[in-house]
Amino acid sequence: MITVLRIGHRISRDKRITTHVALVARAFGADSILIDTKDIKIEETINSILTRFGGPFKIKSGVDTKKILREWKGIIIHLTMYGEELSKSIKKVDKDKNLLIIVGAEKVRPLIYEKADFNISIGNQPHSEVSALSIFLDRYTKGLWLKKRFNGKIEILPSDKGKRVISKESKV
Ligand SMILES: C[S@@+](CC[C@H](N)C(=O)[O-])C[C@H]1O[C@@H](n2cnc3c(N)ncnc32)[C@H](O)[C@@H]1O
Repeated sequence: MITVLRIGHRISRDKRITTHVALVARAFGADSILIDTKDIKIEETINSILTRFGGPFKIKSGVDTKKILREWKGIIIHLTMYGEELSKSIKKVDKDKNLLIIVGAEKVRPLIYEKADFNISIGNQPHSEVSALSIFLDRYTKGLWLKKRFNGKIEILPSDKGKRVISKESKV
């Protein structure tokens, strides 16, 4: 089971990027996302995607980060530009254990670095939580996220021209 924990979410400033973190988590093979700040709008946006494009995926905001870190049964990974190189550290991650992947917004508290079993960098340049999460999940799943089936009401068929969409939505 893979859970993403988004910390430092500021409702007005981060609404788009946290939504994108959640969309990447869902598309790239995570099972759920937890967000520290309560944000009903993001929950609604992601639940609307789930209704149309399918799951399985869960979103919960307003969680207590310290409690989660204290009670987590499994491995905690913190993605940060200060961390150990991805290719070195990913080999050490036990694939049979539950994974909590933490991504930050602005400055991340020292507690997170201490509580993480692995602080992992995707290169040592500052970029984005969205790119860091997508690359990590791609490497962690060895590309198998592409095989995930969502069973949604809307399914997109790959096409080299135009849009091919199957819609199972009932027309009212
Ligand atoms: C706007 S960045 C802030 C950069 C932050 N000072 C750091 O420690 O990576 C927000 C989040 O993106 C992720 N991030 C940015 N660059 C990264 C990198 N090179 N490797 C891993 N994660 C990164 C981290 O999770 C970070 O908390």
